[in-house]
Amino acid sequence: MSLANELEGLIRTIPDYPKPGIMFRDVTTLLQNPTGIRKAVDGLAEAFSDIDYDLVAGIEARGFILGGALAYAQNRGFVTIRKKGKLPHVTLSQQYALEYGVDHVEIHADAVKPGQRVLLIDDLIATGGTAEAGMQLIRRLGGSVVGAGFVIDLPELGGARRLEGLGARVECLMR
Ligand code: PRP
Ligand code: HPA
Repeated sequence: MSLANELEGLIRTIPDYPKPGIMFRDVTTLLQNPTGIRKAVDGLAEAFSDIDYDLVAGIEARGFILGGALAYAQNRGFVTIRKKGKLPHVTLSQQYALEYGVDHVEIHADAVKPGQRVLLIDDLIATGGTAEAGMQLIRRLGGSVVGAGFVIDLPELGGARRLEGLGARVECLMR
């Protein structure tokens, strides 16, 4: 079985969450499966095995799990991109539109040094609004987003193409 098929079989779909009409792809079932989490993290590592990066940046909340495990496995530092008001020190903030609402993500102003190469990780890309905001934060600090990796792409929402349009290399383990 392909990696994509194996991972797909571990993802649960919740209709009408968090709003009517949204088919929510729930990765908690993948993460709680020992083979699932290992294959997802190893798959992301493999997808970017040809590029150099200094840091992994994870987007709250599920990007912390996957990105944190990847940073540990690859011996890289880990940077948190958080929802508004969660970071204690000086932050940069970026607004974005969600598939269902508006929010801000923030990063510590000293989390990425100019010239550092950063791999951005989240569980899923839908419209790409969250990941684009994360990319902008890293770029505003002078970092270079050398890749953006996701377990799931929802291609009908166009997020992967949107990030590619901004010059990012995008890798998704399944669509
Ligand atoms: C989900 C997902 C991504 C984002 C993708 O997070 O984990 O971060 O939405 O959507 P987009 O590509 O349209 O921006 P969510 O907003 O559910 O937040 P959570 O991880 O804190 O639950
Ligand atoms: N699952 C998880 N996060 C999401 C989804 C989804 O289906 N759509 C937008 N963000």
